[in-house]
Amino acid sequence: MLKGKNILLGVCGGIAAYKAVEVASSLRKKGAHVDVIMTDAATKFVTPLTFQEITGNPVSFSMWEKVHTWNVEHIALAKKADLILIAPATANIVGKIASGIADDMLSTTLMASTAPIFLAPAMNTNMYNNPIFQHNLKLLQDIAHYNIIPATTGHLACGNAGIGRFPDPADIIEIIEKFLGQKKDLIGKNILITAGGTREPIDPVRYIGNRSSGKMGYALAEEAARRGAKVTLISGQTSLTVSSSIELIKIETAKQMQQYVEEKFTDSDIIIMAAAVADYCVSKVAEQKIKKAANNFTINLVKNPDILLNLGNKKNPGQILVGFAAETQNLIEYAQEKLKRKNLDMIIANDVSKSNAGFNSDTNIVKIITKNKSVEDIPLMKKTTLAGIILDKIQVMENS
Ligand code: CTP
Repeated sequence: MLKGKNILLGVCGGIAAYKAVEVASSLRKKGAHVDVIMTDAATKFVTPLTFQEITGNPVSFSMWEKVHTWNVEHIALAKKADLILIAPATANIVGKIASGIADDMLSTTLMASTAPIFLAPAMNTNMYNNPIFQHNLKLLQDIAHYNIIPATTGHLACGNAGIGRFPDPADIIEIIEKFLGQKKDLIGKNILITAGGTREPIDPVRYIGNRSSGKMGYALAEEAARRGAKVTLISGQTSLTVSSSIELIKIETAKQMQQYVEEKFTDSDIIIMAAAVADYCVSKVAEQKIKKAANNFTINLVKNPDILLNLGNKKNPGQILVGFAAETQNLIEYAQEKLKRKNLDMIIANDVSKSNAGFNSDTNIVKIITKNKSVEDIPLMKKTTLAGIILDKIQVMENS
């Protein structure tokens, strides 16, 4: 994975700077071309000469001392990098990036780069837990091309034990290799996905629900995040968990789902409605538990908003809107009708009466129908694999 890749290693001034030497050495051994930028403080811990010898390349540490032949060194380094790793990342560099400060070789290079950036923060436990540092870290985490390699817990150079330890260099290399081995075609995209079934309350203890497990929507969210997208997942109640890079908003009712979907809609490039939204809700939810009385009991239901239909009506040029159609008969006909009525770009139709397909199953059998009337049969496969195929098709549609 690392062979022939240009890795820019940013080294900041912390005691773990000496461990960055091992990181640089491993990267080189695995065939990467490694450039190093050191902050001024880092040079007090390890000399630039050490990194120069390890990488075979000149080391940049000052805006004012040219070490390369390029005219504008920070721009050239930023452009050249396939990936930037800052290890160790101090509270100072995290704070600078989060505040948009570019006042030395490393921070200006980061500002000029569009490459994926990995930060491995390492510092004293109190510094690590400091709410300002955590706030800054969260800010970076929310930016699509920033990735945080969390510090580990253990003995620290300051004598304390706790969180803030520099991760094992081998683990850092493994994370980077895994990242470089993945398809990253959704970097810079904001994707909004809904998943799971909504619940419509009857009284404080009962609700009307459906059999959706949320597995399809969660698989799509994970795959999109892995491929570099900034993902917001609006989910009904499920037992599933998601990676921390995904913004997860849990809701209960269709109206709550609609509220968050509408909030996120404008900023989303791709919207995938995989949720099983209840078409009706109870007209008047009882404030107290309904007691058993007569033999027959009637609940009056009123129509819920159709979230997808509303989005289709106000879709902006360039936005891609994808729906799901759960059917038990006339699959293609019903799905095509929904695609047209809701102004969708694509609909994933599944016959939920088939075993191994649809609700609460790990697998699915679907037809992918697009607005240009193409219908593609996708055979039985895991929902996690199907998620990749759906995102591939969306990508093709976006680029055509
Ligand atoms: N959907 C929605 N809001 C609703 C109902 C459905 O946004 N109130 C979305 C679903 O998330 C799905 C698509 O619309 O992506 C189709 O949902 P489906 O339940 O198959 O169809 P309906 O439009 O509800 O029509 P019907 O129940 O009559 O089949």
